Amino acid sequence: MASQRIEELLRSMSLEEKLGEMTQLAPFFFGVDESMDLTGPMAELGLSPEDIKCVGSTLNSFGAEQNIALQKKHMAEQPHGIPLLFMADVIHGYRTVFPIPLAMGCSFHPAACEKAAEVAAKESSASGIQLTFAPMADLVRDPRWGRVMESPGEDPYLNARMTEAAVKGFQGEDPKAPGRIAACIKHFAGYGAAEGGRDYNTVDISAGTLREYYLPAYHAGIDAGAKMVMTSFNIMDRIPAGANEMLFDQILRKEWGFTGTVISDFAAANETIVHGYAKDGAEAAQRYIHAGCDIEMMSSHYIHYGKELVEQGKLTMEEIDRSVRHILELKEELGLFENPFKDADAEREKALCLCPEHREAARQVARESVVLLKNEQVLPLDANREGLKVGLAGPFAVSKNILGGWAGTGTGVASLEAGLREMMPKAEFVTGMTEELGAMQDGIFDVEDHVAEACEALKECDVIIAAVGENPADTGEAASRTCLRLSPNQEKLVYELKKLGKPVVMLVFSGRPLEIRPMLPYADAVVQAWFLGTEAGTALADILTGAYNPSGRLSISFPQTVGQIPVYYNHYNTGRPLGSAEGRYASRYLDCPNEPLFPFGYGLSYSEFRYSDMRAVVDDEGILASVQVENISDVVGVETVQCYTHDLAGSVVRPLMELKGFEQIELAAHEKKEVSFRITRDMLRFHNDRLEFVFEPGEFDIMIGHSSADVLTQRVTLGE
Ligand code: NOJ
Repeated sequence: MASQRIEELLRSMSLEEKLGEMTQLAPFFFGVDESMDLTGPMAELGLSPEDIKCVGSTLNSFGAEQNIALQKKHMAEQPHGIPLLFMADVIHGYRTVFPIPLAMGCSFHPAACEKAAEVAAKESSASGIQLTFAPMADLVRDPRWGRVMESPGEDPYLNARMTEAAVKGFQGEDPKAPGRIAACIKHFAGYGAAEGGRDYNTVDISAGTLREYYLPAYHAGIDAGAKMVMTSFNIMDRIPAGANEMLFDQILRKEWGFTGTVISDFAAANETIVHGYAKDGAEAAQRYIHAGCDIEMMSSHYIHYGKELVEQGKLTMEEIDRSVRHILELKEELGLFENPFKDADAEREKALCLCPEHREAARQVARESVVLLKNEQVLPLDANREGLKVGLAGPFAVSKNILGGWAGTGTGVASLEAGLREMMPKAEFVTGMTEELGAMQDGIFDVEDHVAEACEALKECDVIIAAVGENPADTGEAASRTCLRLSPNQEKLVYELKKLGKPVVMLVFSGRPLEIRPMLPYADAVVQAWFLGTEAGTALADILTGAYNPSGRLSISFPQTVGQIPVYYNHYNTGRPLGSAEGRYASRYLDCPNEPLFPFGYGLSYSEFRYSDMRAVVDDEGILASVQVENISDVVGVETVQCYTHDLAGSVVRPLMELKGFEQIELAAHEKKEVSFRITRDMLRFHNDRLEFVFEPGEFDIMIGHSSADVLTQRVTLGE
């Protein structure tokens, strides 16, 4: 129920003013210099100064001084003195940058993700930002899509836990509180399923698959209290998602009870015309508003056509008021009517951004996000060995351009070299072929070939670190790729370095799983270094020296080759799974295994863990499953114990494995612990063929283990 203030405002605002409130424009329109690239075509929006005075919100305006000045000017001009709402893309940190969300997914540690969001909220709120366009809850299966970097990964359960943690981190108990900002769940819905991994491409998802895989993370974010939802660019069931009433009216509002505000993605309302769904701007506005999109971001059809649509009876005043009410309620919930600047404070901004406490948090989350993929007794390096000669090669060895998409170039970045020098003061470092890799976005596909010189320089080294990968600008939005191999000269570098006969440690800097299979025989150890943020270099040095024992597990499967995509662990079975059918007529590739190169949940540690005594018993509450986990090494380590289920027969087919829980435990050398999971009937519910969310009694396989491909299994029968 809206407050009296809002109801009074609604009575006194003109229709033009309301349509302005329902529009979001970049700071440029308010006379402020752009502080960031706009992510869509800067269309000529045909707006007058009178229109701009009524606009309700802005995006990506950074800095307390700028935002305070803009707010003052705007409120003086806005007919009712309504404050602007400052929104921005604060995706994985503000000035202190945390790992990309896909990497944070690999931490399997929601509290780490919450911490990252909390720090980002503190810094960005001091800079005058009141709402972030995060977290992105889109489930991903296709690493060709550049935006895999922004998703927690391929699993609905893990994504849901990470999404709710991020919402909690940004908003706390109350987004109005100092140092908090409101969260926006995006992109509703199914944006991660872009065909062929090409950004903005068509999506075609069945109703069952949508509910089974794609919706749970958005839903968890809503249940965690996120104040806003953003539409997605794709179509859903042949209708542009933002105009799709089934998504916004039926599922979001009616089924999930969302009472917050909906915003379009950048000019997405306008794109309904390009999709061939709306014939013109008026129809685009009509359909978007009617479906429940309260704010049009960076196109101006609401302002241009809203009035005539109401006059023609194509939209009702109730529909307009409904949207304006949502927006004003959000402003009220953020306390903007009392304090339109919220936490904007230039002094505090300066003190908080990149402060030691935030950097320490970033380092901790970064090391938890690294995944050790291979280790033939090379790692950890002996940090204390006097005169250990370490070779550092490859485009990411000394580079500071390792923050990842949505983070700009940032300041204060710790490079790999800097991190290693800090952690290995007694070692000697030799570098070779460390020139930065340009971006495909700029037409650059490789580094220059200085392989021979690098080998010459590094030939006396005791160990060689090859830091390879992709340019961060080639990940994120509008950064899809068809070939996921390392560039030819980077591959050549690793092959040739290996010929020196020294142990080679390959670090892969990327925003997506790359196709690293061809490199595996040439690297004695492989570390998935992602883009880890400000403290990337120190966190990686912690891992390489064993100051931190790797605990990350893959949040997305790594393909053997691009032709195998999509490859994900929680798929349905085929009628002819490999191994079951006679002769050649099984579901398989002739030239590649069916399994991914590295499966979901996989990751090595410097410790070794043994699982035993798996039990699953049925009781009144459902199933209680337990296992003994023992650290059989001499090194203390963290293990992520994962619990999966498989429903053997259902009224619709069921995934072969579904993650239902995970627990991280620290085990001292040779310590043994029991880990148990409670699986209720509720957790085994799914959408049947009539899309009812039901539990069906029957047989279930309960699996507990180290990864989705390494589990102990017990079968149980669970009744009604
Ligand atoms: C387009 C992106 O899809 C979205 O994620 C982002 O929040 C907006 N641009 C605003 O920058």
